[in-house]
Amino acid sequence: MDLPPFLLDQWTARFASASPPIACNLASSTGPGWTLRELAALGDSPLDLTDTPLGYSSAEGSRALRAAIAALHGADPDWVVVTTGGSEALSLLFCVLEQPGASIALPDPGYPAYAAMAMAWRLDAQPYRLAREAGYVQSADAVLSAVGERTAAVVVNTPHNPTGSVMKRDELSRLATELSGRGIPLIVDEVFHPIYFGSAQPSAADIDNVVVVGDMSKALSLPGLRLGWIIDRDAERRARLIGARSYFAISHSPLLERLAAHALANAPAILGRAQAVADANLAALEAMVARSEGRMAWVRPAGGTTAFPWFTDGRDSRRLCDAAARQGVLVVPGDCFGRPDHVRIGFASQVGGLDHALEIVGSLV
Ligand SMILES: Cc1ncc(COP(=O)(O)O)c(C=O)c1O
Repeated sequence: MDLPPFLLDQWTARFASASPPIACNLASSTGPGWTLRELAALGDSPLDLTDTPLGYSSAEGSRALRAAIAALHGADPDWVVVTTGGSEALSLLFCVLEQPGASIALPDPGYPAYAAMAMAWRLDAQPYRLAREAGYVQSADAVLSAVGERTAAVVVNTPHNPTGSVMKRDELSRLATELSGRGIPLIVDEVFHPIYFGSAQPSAADIDNVVVVGDMSKALSLPGLRLGWIIDRDAERRARLIGARSYFAISHSPLLERLAAHALANAPAILGRAQAVADANLAALEAMVARSEGRMAWVRPAGGTTAFPWFTDGRDSRRLCDAAARQGVLVVPGDCFGRPDHVRIGFASQVGGLDHALEIVGSLV
């Protein structure tokens, strides 16, 4: 199978060892980074991993970790399946939902791996549009417009990458109920939960017919743990997910599972830092858009770690992104999300130095 090139990852990989090096990485969609030393020192009882048995963990993940994930989402530990990042969670779900001739409804714009994984699992991708002119609002009706006889599942990403839009709780519930009547599960990708600007939203894990995907990478800012999860209350489907995971990965690493459980025990400190960095940097980004005097427009993110401003004259953003990278600032060209006149700016990972970086980007607009 020939998958399309992953333009987003190709773009960031191109600058991994750039000279001069990238001083300000606004291409990342994670929160601010942590070293192992900093993470282990969090909390009242610093973590010592030296006696961790280095065997396999179980396919569904250790009980302690599943309980910690469940607590974060207000779910039952039995509903949790640990995966290798949100990436494997999505892949496993698409695998078990696949049936001959089936389709899957996906957001457009959206995280590019959704469509690639759908293709890999032979699910026909049915895009539903998040309309710029409507402020990228995520409505149940827009999603349902992509649902038909062959739909095997629907994916909603809230907060959303790249736009930062959030589907309101009542819309999510209405969508889940409507889909339930048609026998279609609603996958809610919550990897950016709970980073919100304005009204906070609860996790969708308690809504009937919702399957949640989460991870340690984005809001929890620990992508190197390569740890994610599925929360699915359907016991029969969960057994198939665990079965598929046993074939594909056997288990996650017990070392990384312990690190993740420790991080989740200290989630308030980690999430608090990510929210504070995102709040401050979003204000700086807002000022940059205002300084552009109408050359750049945006929909202010309601949550998450990414914003998706655009050039009002419709020009392609690649040249700006190249020029900014040469000056040490990495942002993502909108064509990586099928919108060449946009730029994706990840604003939650950079601690300090943002004002100077945004001056550089602003001078190129
Ligand atoms: C919306 C969304 N879901 C899932 C993922 C997968 O990330 P990971 O495998 O690190 O959990 C990403 C990564 O960028 C993402 O943006």
